[in-house]
Amino acid sequence: MLSSQFLINQKQCCGNGCRMCPYEPQHIQGNQQLQKRWNQSKKKSYTTHMNKINIPMIGLGTWLIPNDEAESITKDAINLGYKHIDTAQVYQNEEGIGNALKSLTVPRNEIYITTKMWPGMFNQEEPFQTFDGAIKACEQSLQFLQVDEIDLYLIHNPFAKENRLELWEAMIELKKQGKVKHIGVSNYNVHHMKEIEAAGIEMPSANQIEIHPWHVVTKPLAEYMDKNEILPIAYSTLAPIPNWREGSRWNGKPEEMKSGAMPCEDIANKYGVTVPQLFLKWAIQLGYPVLPKSVKYDRLKENLSLDHFEISIDDMTLISNIAIDEQKCLAWSGDFDPLEVE
Ligand SMILES: NC(=O)c1ccc[n+]([C@@H]2O[C@H](COP(=O)([O-])OP(=O)(O)OC[C@H]3O[C@@H](n4cnc5c(N)ncnc54)[C@H](OP(=O)(O)O)[C@@H]3O)[C@@H](O)[C@H]2O)c1
Repeated sequence: MLSSQFLINQKQCCGNGCRMCPYEPQHIQGNQQLQKRWNQSKKKSYTTHMNKINIPMIGLGTWLIPNDEAESITKDAINLGYKHIDTAQVYQNEEGIGNALKSLTVPRNEIYITTKMWPGMFNQEEPFQTFDGAIKACEQSLQFLQVDEIDLYLIHNPFAKENRLELWEAMIELKKQGKVKHIGVSNYNVHHMKEIEAAGIEMPSANQIEIHPWHVVTKPLAEYMDKNEILPIAYSTLAPIPNWREGSRWNGKPEEMKSGAMPCEDIANKYGVTVPQLFLKWAIQLGYPVLPKSVKYDRLKENLSLDHFEISIDDMTLISNIAIDEQKCLAWSGDFDPLEVE
């Protein structure tokens, strides 16, 4: 069973050596020494150490946080205990985040930083990014963030069809140069990643995609990522809540979705948590690191407080079952899904 949805169906190790499985592996059963070590590792829930890129399971999302607010929000988040900040060249707030990182006393190696190179977008005037441009973009991000190395560097989207492979080669080069620790992609579907596979070069370590109960990972994509050890990282996990991106033009929801009822409220009430907490935990229990964004202190705190409850397998299924067939990604314009671009 290689699908990322495996937790819904599995109650114990299936014996296939699934990379992120939280259950005691079948092969250690009967070996007291290994079982003791397993018990000591407290591997009950997904943790940083369960993915090969060591990414924390909760990170601060920063899209739509203006540069002049990014410093104080990042400081608040880190002081609250966030260990991961997700930003991007195109968010134009790396500078503010960098100022926060510089002013804090938390050691650099305790904060994980993801940023993304913007490859361009169709229907825009500027040409798509090139190999040299990608190297320069990374150097600029390092400068803004005031760090020597980025923990995870991603190609933001697959839109630069002609340049896709060249951009991926630039990512590999940046890793060689020690400017980034891990490299990955975002909004890539199987056919985009197969181009890299066909070139026989290093594969991405992660793929950041829109994942929430209305937009679950398709089986072929989940299987491809599991097979190639590409970690799915979830963005916009709160999209189904009615106030998601309220008032922003970057909200691909049709009007009826914006004014709809809060989904899964009865389930959240059962656990004594809010729906945002329920959705974030749902994603984490499926093995996906999450990136909740908020500009509000109380919400930053709320979104980090996920350890005190565990969603039952039955409720995981109920939440996953609200998925909408053919639902397009909501974080972009709403009328297309970046996963579907050629
Ligand atoms: N790679 C990509 O293409 C891509 C695309 C989209 C997002 N991302 C990344 O993923 C991050 C998260 O995605 P997102 O920003 O789309 O959405 P999100 O984190 O799923 O939701 C953010 C929205 O929910 C509200 N919110 C947050 N916590 C809440 C809570 N506890 N209760 C009620 N409302 C709450 C926020 O409002 P307030 O801020 O007013 O609290 C905001 O409107 C982004 O910030 C970005 O870092 C990446």
